[in-house]
Amino acid sequence: MCSIFAYKGYRDAAPLIVKALSRMEYRGYDSVGIATYDKTIMVKKGVGNVSYVNSRLNLDRLHGRVGIGHTRWATHGAVSDTNAHPHLSCNGTIAVVHNGIVENYATLRHKLASEGHVFSSDTDSEVIAHLLEDALTKPYSYDKMLGKLLNILNGSYSFVALINDGMLVGARYHEPLIIGLTNPSKDGNNNNGDDCIYADECFIASDVLAFIEYTDKAVFLADGESFLVNYADTKQRVMVKILDRDGNATNKEITQIAWEFADVDKGRFAHYTLKEIHEQSYTIDRAFNASSDRLRELINVLINADRIIVTGSGSSYHAALIAKHLFSKLCMLSCDAIVASEFIYSIDAYAYANNASKPLLIAISQSGETADVLNAVRIARGKNFKIASIVNAPLSTLARASDTYLSINAGPEIGVAATKSFTAQMALLYRISIEVAKDKGMSPPALDIGSSNLYVERILGAEAYISDVAESIKNVNSIYIIAKGIHHAIALEGALKLKELAYVHAEGIHAGELKHGPLALIDGKSIVIALNPMDDTYGEMLTSIHEAKARGACIIGVSDSRCSMYDFTLAIPRVDRLLYPLYEVIPLQLLAYHMALKRNCNPDYPRNIAKSVTVK
Ligand code: F6R
Repeated sequence: MCSIFAYKGYRDAAPLIVKALSRMEYRGYDSVGIATYDKTIMVKKGVGNVSYVNSRLNLDRLHGRVGIGHTRWATHGAVSDTNAHPHLSCNGTIAVVHNGIVENYATLRHKLASEGHVFSSDTDSEVIAHLLEDALTKPYSYDKMLGKLLNILNGSYSFVALINDGMLVGARYHEPLIIGLTNPSKDGNNNNGDDCIYADECFIASDVLAFIEYTDKAVFLADGESFLVNYADTKQRVMVKILDRDGNATNKEITQIAWEFADVDKGRFAHYTLKEIHEQSYTIDRAFNASSDRLRELINVLINADRIIVTGSGSSYHAALIAKHLFSKLCMLSCDAIVASEFIYSIDAYAYANNASKPLLIAISQSGETADVLNAVRIARGKNFKIASIVNAPLSTLARASDTYLSINAGPEIGVAATKSFTAQMALLYRISIEVAKDKGMSPPALDIGSSNLYVERILGAEAYISDVAESIKNVNSIYIIAKGIHHAIALEGALKLKELAYVHAEGIHAGELKHGPLALIDGKSIVIALNPMDDTYGEMLTSIHEAKARGACIIGVSDSRCSMYDFTLAIPRVDRLLYPLYEVIPLQLLAYHMALKRNCNPDYPRNIAKSVTVK
């Protein structure tokens, strides 16, 4: 969604902020702005992406060693220069950047306006600047002021305010905010005897990717915690004070972040999405070979559960559907897959909670920050579910909210579309299924995951041909992907890639359902992609392909065997039958990527969507 970055230290803040905001553009953007302080607060902001707004307004030339920045992904108020963050208080002494939604902003705005505050934007976020301005007129300490402010705000937020004495204050609630520190030490108290952390520089960001090149030391704020950052008395170092929900100074742990987060360059690839598709040659194997201690913990939780629900959103929900198939096929565990945003309406979830003594929710999420997933977790917690999660970000809110979690170890995924994270989630689900089977005394098949790099490379070797196929079908309006069994989850995933990357209407359909309605749509202009492995689905798939072919559809077969009905074949190598779904999604990712290029869409940053959907 939106991203926030703030800096206080010994360097010029503006260039650091501009660079950090570009790194977080994957979170979504429609406008950009920054504010710095050098004797007074200066703000520049406008509509567009970071490099465009910077080239127009020279954001990075603002002076000052403290500043805040923001990329906005509009929720309240149109995309406009005035609605871009930072927002100033009436007297210009406070600038605020905010991520999330202030749910009671209308009431707050009405009250503040009646007291004489003048609003310049249509956003919910601006109320925070005016509330702070109001609070600063009262004889409160900053600590007390923050406590009072948090009691007033409803909804989800992370925000940072720059005050016109150069101080930064902020807080988080259900939105991420992480404090990075160079050379941190806890070598004393401030003048009031409070616990403080001292550091050379302080970075505050929505994602560690924004500051990982400067430091691997960070403090993760918990929900309801707030902070103040100022220079220490010597002015050589900064001093960070963190307050708990009750406004008391708290002694927070400084966490060491894994340096692999720093690997965020495109390398030789034109786009992050393409780079990440190629990385699957090693990320599948890496995810399968997850650390054994944590895996053991998760297996124990799974085996002890008497009801299991798997949840996720988007691609991670498709991985949940895969989990349902794998658990039942490989280790005879029955579970339900429920899309996270529907969890609250799921009768099953509530029935499980009532009828089971040990219900378990497995939450799958690349980012670990998806609001719908976190909400499902909160509901499940309230119903006594244990929570296990599968994440790519071990320091995420979801991992922290879980009883146990496993990381897919896929490294940062910057392209908005999930690619390597999806196959890594699948690989880990295979491993979990096999380990549960062993634990249950079954004899699970040996899976040859060690050869995954060869198979992925073989599929990637056909990229030029897939690009030609994309060229042939680039002007199509609709694509239908038909499949049976576990492959249907891959059909849904392939359709999602085509929609979000190439803006083509695409649908994943159970092949057997074609004749129950969708066949009416098929004619000589239709493209039907048939996921047709030589397995127990093959015979019935041929029947459905015949039905579509007879209506004149162009058939693209994704298969490990040739068939005369295919107009194009996206070949899958002869791989282990059980592992086949892992590979069949890759040509679909490549097809969507190349269709995006042919249709002049930017595959890394699709319109209207963001990588991390932290609003419900
Ligand atoms: C699709 C895509 C989204 C995400 C969804 C969940 O390519 O990227 O559908 O899969 O927003 O995100 P995570 O996995 O971070 O919870």
